[in-house]
Amino acid sequence: MTQRKGIILAGGTGTRLYPLTTAVSKQLLPVYDKPMIFYPLSVLMLAGIREIAVITNPEYMQQFGQLLGDGSQWGLAISYIAQASPDGLAQAYLLAEDFLAGAPSAMILGDNIFYGNDLRSLLKRADEEPEGGTIFGYHVADPERYGVIGLDAGGRVTSLEEKPKIPPSNYAITGLYFLDKTAPALARQVEKSPRGEYEITSLLNMYLESARLRVVRLGRGHAWLDTGTHGSLLDAGNFVRTLENRQGLQIGSPEDVAFQLGWIDRGALRDRAKSYGKSAYGQSLLRRVNETF
Ligand code: TTP
Repeated sequence: MTQRKGIILAGGTGTRLYPLTTAVSKQLLPVYDKPMIFYPLSVLMLAGIREIAVITNPEYMQQFGQLLGDGSQWGLAISYIAQASPDGLAQAYLLAEDFLAGAPSAMILGDNIFYGNDLRSLLKRADEEPEGGTIFGYHVADPERYGVIGLDAGGRVTSLEEKPKIPPSNYAITGLYFLDKTAPALARQVEKSPRGEYEITSLLNMYLESARLRVVRLGRGHAWLDTGTHGSLLDAGNFVRTLENRQGLQIGSPEDVAFQLGWIDRGALRDRAKSYGKSAYGQSLLRRVNETF
């Protein structure tokens, strides 16, 4: 199988976070000790993906470039694609068609945080499926705010609905989609919804209609946090802080993941840690350099 490529969708308007996002991209805002985009980036890395395109608003492209560069410091190849107008998640596959060049993809929303035991093996399994699509469902208290997955008694997907008034289950579609190489061609057939967007649910429904969609349910041992409102942004920061302070380990650190996966060596990790100066983030990475386990 052609190596799967990654997409981080980091555009949008961030209106729910005004005035925080009046002059700054949402995905550059802090989630405790690091920029938000580090978290989804680390998830794609955990899936073993090394070629990644970041889709952003044209006006923030330079800032993302300053933060992430070409990715070589983490053993990655990062490129950038502008989304002139935030017309919906499915549009990303059209914008990224040349970048994907016939490869299967994993797309993650730049404001989604995933954390949980065994995430790496779940991601690896999804990566190993060359055909069709894999999405991840998460039990939420307020499914009507999300795309919702209808399931039969055997746990198979029966429907996907965007923000339904009467949700068929409590399982929300999370912002991580593993799709095969046909995604850009299918995305071209997606029509604008009444909300004026190319909805990802419409694209996923095409996979569902041809019985090519798998759903992995993330259980109680997982956290899926979104950071789109003032409260959820603060909650996510506190969540990360609580775990990091207790364990002395980083969540969502590209350096840490690259080191674990052997994409950078101990010397490179030390250099990266030092580049962050006296910050707690840099100090935490320096401690990792000296650990043997
Ligand atoms: P949303 O949270 O749906 O939208 P938003 O980020 O613009 O925020 P708000 O509702 O407050 O105005 O977007 C989910 C993620 O997808 C987020 O990371 C932004 C990104 N996105 C794009 O990159 N392009 C798009 O066209 C859309 C709709 C979203």
